[in-house]
Parts: sequence; structure tokens; C-alpha cells
Amino acid sequence: MYYDDDIIEQVRSSNDIVDVVSSYVQLKRRGANQIGLCPFHNEKTPSFSVNRNMQIFKCFGCGVSGNVFGFVERIENIGFAEAVEFLAQRAGITLPQKDNRDPEYNRKRSIKESIAAINKEAATYYYMMLRRPGGEIAYNYLKNRGLSDDTMKNFGLGYAGNYSNGLYNYLKEKGHTDEELAISGLFSVSEKGIYDKFWNRVIFPIMDPKGRVIAFGGRIMSKAENAPKYLNSPETELFNKSENLYGLHIAKKTKEKFFLLCEGYMDVIALHQAGFSNAVASLGTSLTERQAKKIKGYTDNVIITYDSDDPGKKAAKRAIPILKNVGLTVKVLNMVPYKDPDELINALGAEEYRKRIEQAVNGFDFEVGLLEEAHNLEDPDSKTQFDHSIAETIALIDDPLARDNHINAASKKYNIDATELKRLVNRIGAALKVKENNEKVQADQKKNRENNPETAKRKTEYILLNLLVQYKEIYFGVKDYLNEDDFSDETEKKIFEYLESDYKRTGVTVGARIIEKFENAEEQKKVADILMTSGDFEDTSGDERRKAFADYITVVKRAAIERKIGEAMSKGDGEKLKVLIAEEDSLEKLKKELLSKKLF
Ligand code: GTP
Ligand code: MN
Repeated sequence: MYYDDDIIEQVRSSNDIVDVVSSYVQLKRRGANQIGLCPFHNEKTPSFSVNRNMQIFKCFGCGVSGNVFGFVERIENIGFAEAVEFLAQRAGITLPQKDNRDPEYNRKRSIKESIAAINKEAATYYYMMLRRPGGEIAYNYLKNRGLSDDTMKNFGLGYAGNYSNGLYNYLKEKGHTDEELAISGLFSVSEKGIYDKFWNRVIFPIMDPKGRVIAFGGRIMSKAENAPKYLNSPETELFNKSENLYGLHIAKKTKEKFFLLCEGYMDVIALHQAGFSNAVASLGTSLTERQAKKIKGYTDNVIITYDSDDPGKKAAKRAIPILKNVGLTVKVLNMVPYKDPDELINALGAEEYRKRIEQAVNGFDFEVGLLEEAHNLEDPDSKTQFDHSIAETIALIDDPLARDNHINAASKKYNIDATELKRLVNRIGAALKVKENNEKVQADQKKNRENNPETAKRKTEYILLNLLVQYKEIYFGVKDYLNEDDFSDETEKKIFEYLESDYKRTGVTVGARIIEKFENAEEQKKVADILMTSGDFEDTSGDERRKAFADYITVVKRAAIERKIGEAMSKGDGEKLKVLIAEEDSLEKLKKELLSKKLF
């Protein structure tokens, strides 16, 4: 962490999660939780829950979860340190100067800083190489592709010279160690030594939204046989290619109401040069949900301007639902007869491209267009197939009014009998409903399976952990009876360790702090699950409550003993087995003891 634990805790505890979330999401009380519509995915029925006791949130629809920092990070699209600053300001807390840092955060941060520093120097080196004698080959290549000096400068384009150790020597001279260089991703490291990864390529620095150089792409200049056209930096602490977008650091400042989403670096650059400074591209891989969400952080509308070839069309078809699902409206631009924006602009100019923007069609029309191309409408069989496919596409539209309008339009345009088309759409729609319903039934069945004895035990473990976190008096009352081995999986064991060490150190623990210790998103989800599982405990009182609690402990301990008995049996460890069986026999005594203790 950037700031030390105490100050982070002060900021966290001064910002009640329900209050913070309420300023973004309308919440209603339901049981122990407040619920509302999830701001991180589209939904019609609320599954986004906030728990005031635990100070955490979890969406049971899309699975995101965390504490107040995690919420602010996501909703404001900022990093952890910034979220701390944001919430400190909200609560009127003055943060200490930035040298109060914790070592683990420092370590990661220093790796990131080191890579960022190396990237910056590397960018300078490549930039210089492009403009030095020997760089003409790359400079001329870029000129021939129509780029101006200004454009090359704006995008920091460069050239990796024709040596295998030019960058290496340059950075060594700047004082970097081999170790630092090795983790930067810019070198190939083997027993033979360290060599530049990029050479004799035009270099495209890849920037994050803040304008920091986080990676590089390199393009070969000739059609050499067995080398990839583009080479990208590998992922590092600083560079996650499924999260970043090329050109975003400029596009984010656009005044236009939409982004242009393209496939290639050269497309982004050509578009910016032609005055479309709202162009971005994914980084050589297909569009991810995280990238779509990132885009949604800056705009509500996207025009896809992918290549006009088959792979480009497929990619567009794939990208449409990803973009729509994060709440973006989507249109698709037609580049025909040119391959990509770069080629279209070079051939016809910016004005023609602007016209194409105006003519861009919505996702539905784009898909129908693809169908039209794939079928021969003169051939009766192919036309029938086409009509069916149109019906399928229309059936997928949620809004009944929109569905009817599309039925009428398609019936006129493609000369399909309106009544027949409607009947077909309805039939397919009904089949889709059946399919949906089947999926629901399957999900229910899965849920039932989860209620089987094995998972019921697991749920009891969750409840027990939950209560240990929530109620200090419970923890101190039963701590001598429990240890981490009583819990059946690693995440649960870790939670137990954390809560135990918190109580030992400070006498208190907080769910919101425990969840923060887990970095892996999958694990975090599970932790949120556990911290939100309090069973019926809240609804009970007095003896009933004490009995319920004594049951939780004995169920959990019995399951743990049975696990160990299984292990002892498979090892043939008779001594151990005896001890365990005695332990199991004493569980009833333990239960009585717990009941007599009157913990609450
Ligand atoms: P130019 O050929 O220079 O105009 O590039 P382009 O962007 O038009 O190329 P293309 O449409 O073939 O590829 C789109 C994007 O995919 C590129 O910008 C790269 O990010 C990525 N890409 C293309 N070829 C390769 C490759 O060989 N390896 C990798 N890793 N990525 C590639
Ligand atoms: Mn191209």
C-alpha cells in the first residue's frame, strides 16, 4: 500500500459503504443487506448487495465484490491509492506525505516504476534512432504510409535499429542492472545473454490513459517470410493487454460523443492524423469485456471500424454483444471496398470517412447485412434459409415494439410475407424462452445439488466464519475450541488466520479489511460470499440462538474430524485414528459446554 495500514483503516472506517454506494446506486433495505441495481453490469432485477455490518458489497449477478475502496476504484475507474485519496477527501481526512509507505506495496510499486522508467528511456532511444543516420529506412517507411512528422511525434513513433544489443547498451549506460532490464519485457534472456527483443522494426509505444509508456509494438518493414508482422511487449506488472487500448490517452479527451474502435495501431494513427482523435484499438487481441468497460468509462457510444475482410466482420459480430453488455450503443462502419480505415483515408480522404461515420448502421442492420452477403436471394432454398436467419436475428430483440418494427421493415425490404415472418419470429422466440427456461431449471438443479450435505457443511463453515468476524464476543468466547484446520479449504483457512491475527493484534477485526488481503479476483468473490453468509442467525435470539451457534461449531468440527479420519485411514495410521475417534466422541460434551457458557 501506498499509505500505511492505520491511515487506510481510518479512511475506510470514516466512509460508511452504504453511504458511499448510495451516492451512485439507489439502495433498498432487504434483510441484513441493502440492495440495488448493479452499476457494473446491466440488470433489470437488483442483485447488487451492500452489507453495512461487514462493510462490503457483492453483486450476485456479475460477481464483483469488495470493500468501499474496491467500489470506488471500479466506479471511478481509478487505482487503489487514488481511491484512498478520494475517500479521504470525502471524509475530510488529511493524508500524510507520501513517504509513509508499506514495504510490500513499495516493492511492487518499485517494479512498476522501474519498468516505466526503462520504457520511457527505451521510447527515447527508439525515437532517436528513427531520426538518426541509419533510421532513414524506418522514417521513409512511415512517410510512405502517409504519416507526417507531427503525427510521428504525437505518437512517439520510433525505430529499433539493426543491432541485437543497441537498446541494451544504451540502458546499461544509463545505469540499469541486468535484473531490471530482464523484467522490463524488452529483452530476450537466456544462458547466451541478454538481447534486444525488437530490432529492425518500426516502434509504436503503447501508452496508458495517463500517457505513461507501458509497452511497445514493433512492425517489420518488409514482407519477410517467417517473422510475425507485429511483435508486442509481453505482459508485465505494468502492462495488461486485455485491459488497455491503443490511443486512449488521446481519445479520452475527445469532444465527440462516440469512440471509433479499430483493429490496428496504424488505423488509430491514420484516423488521428485525419482529425478523428477519438479512435482507439485493442492491442492485437480480440476485444475484451474489461476493454469495453474501460471505454464505457469515457463514452456511451462506439462505432466499430474493423477491417472489411471476413475476419474483421467476424470480429465485429463478436464485439457487438460485448460492447452492448456494458451499456454502450454500437454502430458499425462500412469500409468497402477498402480494407481498413488507414487504407480508406489514404485513398479517399477524411471527408469520405466522415460520411461513412454518418452512414454507420446499428448492430442489427449490420448482422442482417452479413446474412444478405452470405445468401443468394435469387435462389429459393438460400432465400428460405435467409428468411429463417432474419427471423432468428429479430427474435433476439428484447423490446416487442422494436421487434414488430423490424418485422415490418424486413418484410418490405426482403419481400417476406409479414404474417409468416411474425409467426416464425414468435416460434423462434418461444423456443428461445424454452431454452432459457431449461437453463434456469438446470441452474436450480445445480443449486439443489449445492444444498446437499457436503455443501451444507460448507455453508455452515461460511456462517461460522461470518459470525467470528462480525461478533467479537463470539470469537473470544470460542477461540480456544477452533483452529484453521477446522475449515475445509484454503480461502477459509486464510480468512480464519487473518481474523485471528487481527483479534490478537488489535482486539477487533473488520470484514472490509479481510477482503482487502485477497488479491486474486476469484478468491475475493469467495471471501465476499463468506462474509455475506450469516444464515438465519440474525433472526434468532436467546436459547434458540445459542443452540444454533453450538450446532454450527459442532457440525464444522465433526466435518473436520471426519476429513482427518479419512486421511488417517488411507495412511493406515491406527494411533491417529484412535485419537480422532475419541475427539469425535467428545463433540457432544463440547456442545453442552458451549451452551452453558452463555456467550450471548
Ligand atoms: P498494417 O499492416 O501496418 O496496416 O497494420 P494493420 O493494423 O492494418 O494490421 P492488421 O489489420 O493485420 O492487424 C491489426 C492488429 O493486429 C495490429 O495492429 C496488431 O496489433 C495485431 N497484429 C497483426 N499482426 C500481428 C502479428 O503478427 N502478431 C501480433 N502479436 N499481433 C499482430
Ligand atoms: Mn492496415
